[in-house]
Amino acid sequence: MTGFPHVRPRRLRTPAMRRVAAEHHLAPSQLVLPLFVREGATEPVPISSMPGQVQHSRSSLREIVARAADAGLGGVMLFGVPSTRDATGSGACDPAGVLNQAIGDVVDVVGDRLAVMADLCLDEFTDHGHCGVLDDRGRVDNDASLAQYRAMALAQADAGAHLLGLSGMMDGQVAAVRDALDGAGHQGVALLAYAAKYASAFYGPFREAVESTLVGDRRTYQLDPANRREGVREARLDVAEGADVVMVKPAMSYLDVLSDVAAGSEVPVWAYQVSGEYAMVEAAAANGWVDRRRTIQESVLGIRRAGADAVLTYWALELAGWLREDY
Ligand code: PBG
Repeated sequence: MTGFPHVRPRRLRTPAMRRVAAEHHLAPSQLVLPLFVREGATEPVPISSMPGQVQHSRSSLREIVARAADAGLGGVMLFGVPSTRDATGSGACDPAGVLNQAIGDVVDVVGDRLAVMADLCLDEFTDHGHCGVLDDRGRVDNDASLAQYRAMALAQADAGAHLLGLSGMMDGQVAAVRDALDGAGHQGVALLAYAAKYASAFYGPFREAVESTLVGDRRTYQLDPANRREGVREARLDVAEGADVVMVKPAMSYLDVLSDVAAGSEVPVWAYQVSGEYAMVEAAAANGWVDRRRTIQESVLGIRRAGADAVLTYWALELAGWLREDY
């Protein structure tokens, strides 16, 4: 013992005390499930680098969102995988496009039982795979991309989305989309800004999931992993532009940024536990190298502890089931 024999932190770690002494908790309402829907799919298509995850058909999407609502999740985040793509990503703005159709389907099933969120970005819809449109020299054109985001936002809001997830990382995207929505009577549609989205290698499996055509990288618009302060700056700018929620992404390698953003934020702060984080744990667990359930729970709890009010995670549904059992 040290010189303070009466100081015994272990008193709070007994089986009786541990639960009441816990500083952070996970609840199903704090979890958001990302889902992929593939145009023309007649049944779910497995994603090999994300074991357990699939590209949904329209009907399997309806089934899983009903389960998500029953499990009490906070929401779902929808991504579309279109069968054709073009230079400007016009499928993103087409009311009959795969993502807009999926939004309508999901709202039809769940109503207001969970938040229906849609990814607002062009990368799944452009033939070059960038998150914006290109200028005549092949560079991502910020302001031309904003014009497309405005149109995409209207299509998603018209389809019934409750919240739009702005993940393209163009400057001024929150203000531009807010203006477009308000001008069209969609003042009630919320905006989630991927405020601090880093140019990360952890998106690898997602690129398979959406059949990305990208050659090169996104380093001219996503943040440099070397930068911590810049994440806070991006979040502050997005809130000033009207973001209702800000997000840090990926989660696990950016917990310092998450903690900084959460410490200074007046709006909810979410984090996205991305595809590569999912794949790493699944691969290690499949080899018997880590305890799958405990590792998943610890990873999401750690993200909450760092300051996330809610977490986007591919394990949302499974985790919600465990939380119910643990009670
Ligand atoms: C872009 C987008 C990406 C992810 C979500 N939205 C990929 C990217 O920026 O390349 C990644 C999510 C994940 O890896 O799970 N629309």
